[in-house]
Amino acid sequence: MKLFFALLAVGLPALAAAHSWIVCTDYLENNGWYWDEAKCRGWPRAARRFNLRFGVFGAQNNYTWRLDNHPEEKALCKKNRNDDKWYDADTPMAAYYLGQKVVLPHPANNHVAESKCRGRTAIDWENLMFVVDGDQDPCCINSTKLIQIMDMGVSPYGRELPDEVLSTYPKPGFQNVPKFCEDPEDAMGTYNFTVPMDMQPGRHTFVWKWIRDPTVNPFTTCWEADVFATKAERDAHYLATGRSTEDAWDFYQIHNIVDGMIMDPVDPSINEVITG
Ligand SMILES: *[C@@H]1O[C@H](CO)[C@@H](O)[C@H](O)[C@H]1NC(C)=O
Ligand SMILES: *[C@@H]1O[C@H](CO)[C@@H](O)[C@H](O)[C@H]1NC(C)=O
Ligand SMILES: *[C@@H]1O[C@H](CO)[C@@H](O)[C@H](O)[C@H]1NC(C)=O
Repeated sequence: MKLFFALLAVGLPALAAAHSWIVCTDYLENNGWYWDEAKCRGWPRAARRFNLRFGVFGAQNNYTWRLDNHPEEKALCKKNRNDDKWYDADTPMAAYYLGQKVVLPHPANNHVAESKCRGRTAIDWENLMFVVDGDQDPCCINSTKLIQIMDMGVSPYGRELPDEVLSTYPKPGFQNVPKFCEDPEDAMGTYNFTVPMDMQPGRHTFVWKWIRDPTVNPFTTCWEADVFATKAERDAHYLATGRSTEDAWDFYQIHNIVDGMIMDPVDPSINEVITG
């Protein structure tokens, strides 16, 4: 009987599409409700291969497979490093500046503890950001070449937690997916991390690691970014490559939400202009 349950537990994550990956490596809106590819300025490795920009968010699109990766079964990164091959004009590499807050969108893939729909017990165990020491992909997730630069927290989960905890956003960790109930599989969640002030400017490989549940291997996404010492230098690079130089904004700063509805405009001066 015990064996039967153990097998069932191993089989379930596959059925529930237990995967996720970082879709964009420099997104303009933190804590947003819906994905908009126009807000993405930088892409992970092989974004074109996985149809991340023009495909349906979170879905397996056309001829592609999903950009998910289990680094204990395979290499740390889904695709080996090859900057000329994996970045292009449609899916360019991100550029960061020291101290920048970077927003990372990812699909929910059913893993949110929500009181308004589904279960309350979806675990969230670890959400980390690393930078790679050197130019070579590390062998494994436990490599000493992976330098942790941010712990993005974990989301609350559990039967005993009140509804308001489970249905209030933003949340820390993976489950910051405000529109989860509308599309538990493909709704967008966002994280943010800060580029460390003491990083050496230049090109670096960044690695995201998510442990959904300690009994399931971690997930990773790898990408490169050019790191500049100042925002002015980063902006010059984005301008030269036709990209926005705006800093990421927060969804809740630009929208006024009342009872779960967007009641815009927030800014009374905008209202004045509109009403004359
Ligand atoms: C599949 O590809 C076609 C054309 O190549 C495109 O128009 C369509 O949007 C794609 N569908 C998805 C789900 O990516
Ligand atoms: C890292 O993990 C691999 C197996 O995945 C193991 O062989 C190796 O000894 C580990 N290295 C360290 C430093 O823990
Ligand atoms: C950015 O991420 C950190 C770490 O998860 C979190 O504490 C913080 O609330 C986030 N900031 C915003 C504005 O969401």
